[in-house]
Amino acid sequence: MNDQEDQGRKEAVELGNPTADTSVGSEVSEPTGRAQVVRKQPTEQPVRTLPRVIAVANQKGGVGKTTTTVNLGAALADLGYRVLIVDLDPQGNATTGLGIEARNFDFSMYDVLLHDVALEDCVEPTNIKNLFLAPATIDLAGAEIELVSAFSRELRLKRVLAPIREDFGYILIDCPPSLGLITVNALAAASEVLVPIQCEYYALEGVGQLLRNVELVRCNLNPELEVSAMVLTMYDSRTRLADHVVAEVRTHFGDAVCKNVIPRTVRISESPSFGEPITIHSPSSRGAIAYRELAKEVSGGQA
Ligand SMILES: Nc1ncnc2c1ncn2[C@@H]1O[C@H](COP(=O)(O)OP(=O)(O)OP(=O)(O)O)[C@@H](O)[C@H]1O
Ligand SMILES: [Mg+2]
Repeated sequence: MNDQEDQGRKEAVELGNPTADTSVGSEVSEPTGRAQVVRKQPTEQPVRTLPRVIAVANQKGGVGKTTTTVNLGAALADLGYRVLIVDLDPQGNATTGLGIEARNFDFSMYDVLLHDVALEDCVEPTNIKNLFLAPATIDLAGAEIELVSAFSRELRLKRVLAPIREDFGYILIDCPPSLGLITVNALAAASEVLVPIQCEYYALEGVGQLLRNVELVRCNLNPELEVSAMVLTMYDSRTRLADHVVAEVRTHFGDAVCKNVIPRTVRISESPSFGEPITIHSPSSRGAIAYRELAKEVSGGQA
């Protein structure tokens, strides 16, 4: 085992405490109480009230945050919920992945967070019924720096979301791969965090740091914040490593880990280049089925 892998395991053990009570509905207990942010959900999903504002976060790059935001959002919209995806990543991958091009919109999340543009004026419809997008462009990269000196810099997103929250059943926030001010804004505005975890080497690397940040935000800015779901992504059934990662993550985080695992498929990886979620690009593919099942699991059928 190399150092990085070892570190990942240490973090997992440190956070998950596999000896903790794993009875239905219990929380992952930890001597410092830090890991209480990871709620072990009862076997039956708790019914959560709408709107649900979910930050999709993991500061590790390329783990499936955007793919999960876009495809889970589309699948929730298919279930009949009004869904808003907020692209908070300067890479703008959720924006382009939904076929929305910068030349076709006037305002982006940069204008909303830093120039008092109403979020309502930045929301774009998508080709999918019930699915809306607040787009991002590379301008947002500057926001990380400009926000530093801004008034109530951590609560900007929470404030701009307030007037439109009730218009949606789900608001999914696609975070950038960092724990900077943009991600802090997402965590302060959300009620839940969904953490995608890639079924790869070093899967848990950085998860400890993320959970500590969630706890900091919960204590200082947003008492209702909890990690409500961890989603295993890019599962390749041909590798023993993938099974090993799934088993390890489930051991440490228990029922907080969604039952539905997202397979690694070519169709999922190519769908952004068509500007379509997998549910439109290839509706009967394994990836589309997996994201539809995930949407049912996450929503728990609540109206
Ligand atoms: N289930 C999957 N099967 C195949 N490829 C996938 C799958 N999920 C994601 N990918 C691909 O992996 C890459 C990273 O995924 P994605 O962009 O969703 O990660 P991310 O966490 O949002 O990355 P970043 O940290 O850069 O924002 C992308 O090229 C994406 O198409
Ligand atoms: Mg992304």
